[in-house]
Amino acid sequence: MDFSEKEESDGIRFSWNYWPHSKGMQADVVVPVSCLYTPLKDIEGIQMLEYNPICCRSCKGILNPSAHIDFKFKSWRCPFCGSENHFPNHYSQHLTEVNLPPEVVKTYTTVEYVLPGSSEKPVFLLVIDTCIEESELAEIKDSVQQSLTLLPEDALVGLITFGKHVFVHELGSPGFPKSYVFKGDKVKTPAQIQEALKIINTNNPTAARNQQNLKKFLVPVADCEVNLNNILDDLQPDPFPVPQGHRTPRCTGNAIDIAMGLLECIVGVRGSRIITMVGGNCTFGPGKVVDEKLTVTIRSHHDILKQNEKTVYMKDAMSFYEGISTRALKKGIVMDLFVASVDQSGVLEMKSLFERTGGYYIMTDSFQNPVYKESFQKFFTVDDDGHLKMGFLGKINIFTSKEFKCNKCIGACNASGVENITEWNVGGIDKNSSLAFYFDILASKPHSSNAHPPVFLQFQTKYQHSDGSNRIRVTTVARCLAAPDDTRELAYGFDQEAASVLMARYAVERCKTDEPLDVIRWLDRMLIKLVSKFAGYKRDDPNSFRLSREFSLYPQFMFYLRRSQFLQTFNASPDETVYYRSLLLRESVANSLVMIQPALLQYTTDSDHPIPVLLDSTSMKSDVILLLDTFFYILVWHGENIIQWKKDGYHEMEGYEGLKDMFESPREDAKVIIQDRFPTPRYYISKPGDGHERKIKSRINPASGKSTSDNDDENNIFTEDVSLKIFMSHLIKLAVQSS
Ligand SMILES: *[C@@H]1O[C@H](CO)[C@@H](O)[C@H](O)[C@H]1NC(C)=O
Ligand SMILES: *[C@@H]1O[C@H](CO)[C@@H](O)[C@H](O)[C@H]1NC(C)=O
Ligand SMILES: *[C@@H]1O[C@H](CO)[C@@H](O)[C@H](O)[C@H]1NC(C)=O
Ligand SMILES: *[C@@H]1O[C@H](CO)[C@@H](O)[C@H](O)[C@H]1NC(C)=O
Ligand SMILES: [Zn+2]
Repeated sequence: MDFSEKEESDGIRFSWNYWPHSKGMQADVVVPVSCLYTPLKDIEGIQMLEYNPICCRSCKGILNPSAHIDFKFKSWRCPFCGSENHFPNHYSQHLTEVNLPPEVVKTYTTVEYVLPGSSEKPVFLLVIDTCIEESELAEIKDSVQQSLTLLPEDALVGLITFGKHVFVHELGSPGFPKSYVFKGDKVKTPAQIQEALKIINTNNPTAARNQQNLKKFLVPVADCEVNLNNILDDLQPDPFPVPQGHRTPRCTGNAIDIAMGLLECIVGVRGSRIITMVGGNCTFGPGKVVDEKLTVTIRSHHDILKQNEKTVYMKDAMSFYEGISTRALKKGIVMDLFVASVDQSGVLEMKSLFERTGGYYIMTDSFQNPVYKESFQKFFTVDDDGHLKMGFLGKINIFTSKEFKCNKCIGACNASGVENITEWNVGGIDKNSSLAFYFDILASKPHSSNAHPPVFLQFQTKYQHSDGSNRIRVTTVARCLAAPDDTRELAYGFDQEAASVLMARYAVERCKTDEPLDVIRWLDRMLIKLVSKFAGYKRDDPNSFRLSREFSLYPQFMFYLRRSQFLQTFNASPDETVYYRSLLLRESVANSLVMIQPALLQYTTDSDHPIPVLLDSTSMKSDVILLLDTFFYILVWHGENIIQWKKDGYHEMEGYEGLKDMFESPREDAKVIIQDRFPTPRYYISKPGDGHERKIKSRINPASGKSTSDNDDENNIFTEDVSLKIFMSHLIKLAVQSS
């Protein structure tokens, strides 16, 4: 089955497309019944319905193609709860078998309602770090000034800058622009912040907010472009003197807190983002992650594991930012973080800001790097209708038939409630935002009457479009329970790509509480169980082992997942690990697969187009060019001979035009990938023995892995750096073993 084709119509992919029929069987099939859903996926020909949806009177499920319609009685039966519902008059008057409303047409399993009325345009509050070099600041100014022109004219913008102090800038007053100064280490309540900005008066609590004053800080783009540009032009690096042996006092936490205090005054039913740009550690005031004194360094994975003295600020900082993100969630404020620094900046502590609100975290080493500049530009690009490609105030509700329920969602979201959750807050959402839902089969024994009873699932995604309209995207899908004990049927519906991504998310989620090494062992055990359930073999005879097509790539995905940056934290800082994991928790199946198992293309003189080759050290031949795409970076590697040919200038000689093309096409292809991707990936060029070569060697299958230990102790299934071949042969041995 081609599951990616199905994904095109609904933005959904299941691990299993035939479901285990009972609780017991679910445990047997190892990989959870689950799906990856991309609520706002671009769907060709999607039906846009400009009216309110019709809901089931008892469960609030929305009318859909799976509803059973009684044309005589003009009613429909809800597939989730079984209630009969009468069609409203304006439907029933015309309803016949050949005259159906669009929402029940069989092929319209995903529709989008554009609700009557509209809200105001979104708000963008910029928070800019000034404790950076002038050249860095210049890049921020430049990219902000460029993107202003893309915002809808009636979107509001605001500006806060910070160093040792926080400055809230008035953008709406004519003449000399004023700003309000706050001490960086002094925490104020939202009321105190609003009073200092003269928006409220605490002596007179019943008085309304001073809208006039509020409007000075958050101003329609069209009315403040000149002021904002002037302020940005005059913006200087923080002049505060830094004593020898100290870090710059930088009060990132307080700046974000004040931004929140300001935005809380106005948003409610209006989309908004706080976009923070930082160039280093928070060293001052609330949310500080490292001391001002240079002698103390920032925590590493090792320090965190040991909970040593370098982690003294961690707990407080994390709960400080969690407090802010909880407030943001309540108001539907999205928090974005653009970080440019060669080293860590304490993003681990700040991660709740973007993880819980659906914001972006973009990480790079400098604001001059295209990763920042191009990503920032893409962030503000508009679609063909001139609308920003972002949704606000996202909320997902799920409806299921009684045979199963949802037990977990992994992704950028926040569950409402604890038990039997059916609603998730997703906040900011874009066309690629994908959430993983995991289900529990509740039925305890197989159906007697029907060999393949259908089950139904509906997602309702409410959000605010950037044009101000409120919308509900509704996807309703049906799947079947498999016939009892028919593993062939289950296997036939196995989507190994989706399953790999769903297991990867599960594994990353487990890393929040477990050591990565334990998570890897858990993945190994799950893989062995799955393979021994679905492969064909004679007990204790590895040579008889056969894995069907549906499962053939899955072990390999698991192999590369174990080696990936998601589970190997050895060479990464805690901030980097947060970056990798947060993208895996956001992206679609296709993008996530590239992160797990990078794509490798080979260019040679023999072929005029690139050929995908094995992610293996044997692919690093001397007369090839390779293009490695890991999602996070693209690397073009040149073999020894290629370097020599280039040096000798062959490609400039007559008769060697093919060589010239071969030299150029990887670069062109990389350019296309880079242009298309968000966040913009890094780009490296490499050759044997240079500093970047490690970036390809660390991701490919090692040449000759160390042999695995022979004792099949459950705690040590595979040694760490085995080759794929050894991994597979050991897997087969364990899978066919009689227990
Ligand atoms: C943040 O502080 C750590 C602590 O030593 C330091 O290693 C790192 O370079 C700092 N990062 C920046 C961007 O200043
Ligand atoms: C977010 O999640 C937390 C913990 O699960 C919960 O207590 C809180 O009510 C949720 N907030 C919102 C706005 O859904
Ligand atoms: C959650 O669902 C289970 C199974 O449907 C049910 O037994 C339980 O009572 C529910 N819990 C709550 C709090 O509704
Ligand atoms: C979504 O993914 C596609 C394909 O990788 C990419 O071209 C596009 O830029 C992405 N958009 C966003 C907003 O991430
Ligand atoms: Zn219902």
